[in-house]
Amino acid sequence: MTKNNAFNTDSFETRRQLISKTRTIVALDVPNYNNAIKILKLIEPHVDGIKISYPLIMNNGLTAIQKMRSLTNLPIIADLKIADIPETSSRIAELAFEAGVDGIIVHGFMGRDSLESCVKIANLNNGLTFVVTELSNPGAAELMQNIGDKIAKMALEVKANGLISPATRPNRIQDYRRIVGDQLLILSPGVGAQGGNSGIAIINGADFEIIGRRIYDDSDPLKAIKKHNSDLQSQLLNYSSDL
Ligand code: C5P
Repeated sequence: MTKNNAFNTDSFETRRQLISKTRTIVALDVPNYNNAIKILKLIEPHVDGIKISYPLIMNNGLTAIQKMRSLTNLPIIADLKIADIPETSSRIAELAFEAGVDGIIVHGFMGRDSLESCVKIANLNNGLTFVVTELSNPGAAELMQNIGDKIAKMALEVKANGLISPATRPNRIQDYRRIVGDQLLILSPGVGAQGGNSGIAIINGADFEIIGRRIYDDSDPLKAIKKHNSDLQSQLLNYSSDL
């Protein structure tokens, strides 16, 4: 099955239209591959993308990505939070794209050379690079937050495609949106289990919300994703009627 590059368009306006459907990306941090696929099949029509990470990949190897790639047309983002010297960072990025992902998540604090090495590999693979500005956990406010603005500016300069910014701190999403304008996407994790309410990140400037445990830990993931999506839409409606 071919890769879906729904996120990968030149014009922000076009991207805005493509963003369209649900504005939700599911984080499938489920170590058991079969369980991950079971959940994916249930909720697939209700999300715009899939984020996978270490729990799934370490337990199943890169074949988990290859198999998932053949089962879905949704964009797959590998959240490897790459953070190494350029030579190692780019090798990790290469392996992820070879396995079939559409995008990678990288840290920014290593500096421009490492970040550029990842963007270069992503571009060669017609893929996307998302840069973490600050994590969504409370501890990120201790250190990462202090350099988040600089990371966002650097992401813009190296022509990454987007930022990963915390739904747990909507004011920071506003800050990052001010820095990158309409040039970069903002994907926002921290909705649900970490305390972010559905729709709040979007009305503060994010393009997509990322939600994990609130969906896959629920005994009824389909009901949970529908609830999230409907809460998100209600927030958007309330917000636009207040304008
Ligand atoms: O289960 P939960 O909804 O908290 O999942 C959030 C996902 O987003 C996890 O995979 C986590 O590693 C990731 N993430 C995050 N905050 C960031 C970057 C990634 O929570 N800033």
